Amino acid sequence: MVKINSSYRKLQGSYLFSTIAKKVTEFTKANPDKKVIRLGIGDVTLPLSPTIIKALHNAVDEMAHKETFKGYAPDRGYSFLREAIVENDYKKRGCSISPDEIFVSDGAKCDSGNIQEIFDVNSTIAVCDPVYPVYVDSNIMAGRGGDYLADKECYSGIIYMPCKKENGFTPMLPDRVPDLIYLCSPNNPTGAVIDRNGLQKWVDYANENGSVIIFDAAYEAYIRSENIPHSIYECDGAEKCAIELHSFSKNAGFTGLRLGYAVVPKALVRDGVSLNDLWARRHSTKYNGAPYIVQRAGEAVYSAEGQREIRGMVDYYNKNADYIKTNLEKAGFSVSGGTDAPYIWLKTPDNMSSWEFFDYLLSKANVVGTPGSGFGPHGEGYLRLTAFGSYENTVEAVDRIVNRL
Ligand code: MLT
Repeated sequence: MVKINSSYRKLQGSYLFSTIAKKVTEFTKANPDKKVIRLGIGDVTLPLSPTIIKALHNAVDEMAHKETFKGYAPDRGYSFLREAIVENDYKKRGCSISPDEIFVSDGAKCDSGNIQEIFDVNSTIAVCDPVYPVYVDSNIMAGRGGDYLADKECYSGIIYMPCKKENGFTPMLPDRVPDLIYLCSPNNPTGAVIDRNGLQKWVDYANENGSVIIFDAAYEAYIRSENIPHSIYECDGAEKCAIELHSFSKNAGFTGLRLGYAVVPKALVRDGVSLNDLWARRHSTKYNGAPYIVQRAGEAVYSAEGQREIRGMVDYYNKNADYIKTNLEKAGFSVSGGTDAPYIWLKTPDNMSSWEFFDYLLSKANVVGTPGSGFGPHGEGYLRLTAFGSYENTVEAVDRIVNRL
């Protein structure tokens, strides 16, 4: 008799964004006349920029000719893309990362879910609370995390690092030393950022204790403040303790195209083994590479025109973030994030729970947010709004929130 992986039994409910999508579908079915504005999932709405579209067309044409057709991509990604990444995302920031430390993938979600595979099943993990659910769920699926404690809404074996208003929604060093530490800055969901000194402390802590930091930099393009590192490798010694994950989704609108990369430095050795070698082994065994045409589109992101165009997209979403933040604050809401991140972290009014406020917002204003408690127990009493909508919808959603609640 076939038995399932029993760790999957420990997963709670369905994936957060699937639950929300289901609720919204039910609402729209019951209220077909209502125009629902979705500021829930962080999915982009602007189309791909002209330079990227041109690169895609050119690459498609190449696939039509024997001389230029491409089959399987190289394991770690095409060198044209890895070199462009190194040049633009690292050399320009003074970080010495080389192309053979870059692993191109189909996005940061998969990388952040898969990276745990190269670590022992008994490794302890530390996550921010609230947190992007993929970090926790992928470790639960792998058999880490112990038991689910329903009263505390957390797993016994996971070290939660509360991110509360008092500490600017950033994590404090944990009481016990974890093997793996997941950090995301700019943060999903709170929109908080870790400054240079703060991140250096984490790097020093990981190096002193032999931990590995999984640094999710998916939202780095949204950083506007000075002194906020775009990459963990801007910190001294990070190449000895950190893996960094990047996405092309949020900066260049690739949520539907799929492209990302992981950086696993050669200097990162644990248990006598190079993690670069180990990830290369895993990557080449289980993955056949992002499509050639998508990697060409990724290369175009780094062209001068591509950079100018994607800057325009990020500025557009930043303007939405500013609009949400300023106007909700003016209306008396308690709001944070949104300055260096496309997420606004909103305190629910009148002590409503996150899900109560989600339902209230949907029924009164027909606006979809993401309940903070879906990201972890310390997200209770908050709701996340995304700046990835159109400007018109963002303005309308905020006006409805201010005037209808
Ligand atoms: C989110 O809304 O948190 C993100 O869009 C999810 C993701 O990037 O996978």
